[in-house]
Amino acid sequence: MRVLVVGGTGLIGGAVTAALRDRHEIVVASRNAPQYVDLDDSASIAALFERVGVVDAIVSASGHAPWGAPQALSVVDYAEGLRSKALGQIDLVLQGSRHLSDGGSFTLTSGILAVEPLSESSPSAVAGAAVEAFVRAAATELPRGQRLNAVRPTIVAGSPAGPLERFRGYHPVDPADLVLRYIRSIEGVQSGQVYEAYGA
Ligand SMILES: NC(=O)c1ccc[n+]([C@@H]2O[C@H](COP(=O)([O-])OP(=O)(O)OC[C@H]3O[C@@H](n4cnc5c(N)ncnc54)[C@H](OP(=O)(O)O)[C@@H]3O)[C@@H](O)[C@H]2O)c1
Repeated sequence: MRVLVVGGTGLIGGAVTAALRDRHEIVVASRNAPQYVDLDDSASIAALFERVGVVDAIVSASGHAPWGAPQALSVVDYAEGLRSKALGQIDLVLQGSRHLSDGGSFTLTSGILAVEPLSESSPSAVAGAAVEAFVRAAATELPRGQRLNAVRPTIVAGSPAGPLERFRGYHPVDPADLVLRYIRSIEGVQSGQVYEAYGA
């Protein structure tokens, strides 16, 4: 398969890329990758697909949301998280569908904060839940047998110290375990799924 990995230079995307490289042709895209794309910029997504052409699977592991308690935030902070984590990935699906082969798959990334609150996590919760709601609903209407799933990781082993500290009491998921969920989505047959990737 030809697999486009947006965020393929990051912690999660890099692990996915490493796990797939032996069996598949991988195209890595990000703001600093060989294939430029900024998911905040719709035109750059269009330009990416013009350059790359048809692919058989599209993975996204990118985006961020601010941390903060609601009383310390404004709606602009929530909009930033939604724009970066949710709308960017949604745009990738909307535009990518025209460039995805029949039966091809999308695999997006949400996060455990979509369903389990931590201190100052509400912007991530909102953005991650939006990704998952989109996956469940849009998967039913994609054309040509295309599939759409999300992976919902807990904190990933190897994350920077700051995020790791916030997840005290959580067992980090090993990247080697995490990537199995992406592989299940890419090489399997299911659609509309949210695959949990929690540590032991
Ligand atoms: N790490 C965790 O523990 C964890 C747990 C649950 C969920 N998640 C979620 O998983 C996703 C990836 O996390 P990660 O830890 O792998 O992050 P990361 O190591 O910071 O990597 C992020 C990747 O996304 C790319 N990227 C960032 N902004 C982009 C944009 N606007 N357009 C295109 N590419 C962009 C980055 O490359 P460039 O800088 O070159 O663009 C990089 O390749 C995030 O949504 C994160 O919230 C992470």
